[in-house]
Amino acid sequence: MLSKKMQEALNAQINAEYHSSYLYLSMAAHCQAINLEGFASWLRIQADEEMIHAMKIYDFVLERGGRVVLTAIEAPATEWESPLAIFEATYAHEQYITGRINKLVDLAIAESDHATNAFLQWFVNEQVEEESNADAVLQRLNLIADAPGGLFMLNEQLGQRPAITPASPAE
Ligand code: FEO
Repeated sequence: MLSKKMQEALNAQINAEYHSSYLYLSMAAHCQAINLEGFASWLRIQADEEMIHAMKIYDFVLERGGRVVLTAIEAPATEWESPLAIFEATYAHEQYITGRINKLVDLAIAESDHATNAFLQWFVNEQVEEESNADAVLQRLNLIADAPGGLFMLNEQLGQRPAITPASPAE
């Protein structure tokens, strides 16, 4: 059984993951509008991943006999100055999410909630990958410094990210 505090914190994280999805989808829409379709595709897949994260927590709360409470999702930004600005924001956002996950782990430990702590370790590891993926694109953007040729190539590469199925939560 989840404590009331843990349940509220997990529900807040469901909201944060959906907000992440909304943010990346907004970035994808922006990239589509400026004809960076590879960037748009990469970000749209990232938005799908965030929904999977949300649903993993949703399912865990239910499995523990808790109550899922969905709340309003904060509207994301809709415009960015450049692809570099998008990935600076993405990297910063993932660092913010890592901080949130760490706080959830802190709470699980403080409550001796070993099951939630064990569950959250998947997210601890996932955040290493999430930060690394965002940083990898950011570093490449820094290298090419918006040179049209480099941007074109990166756009092609990002367009090759394989799609995932949001309805089928991954391990
Ligand atoms: Fe759900 Fe990108 O962390």
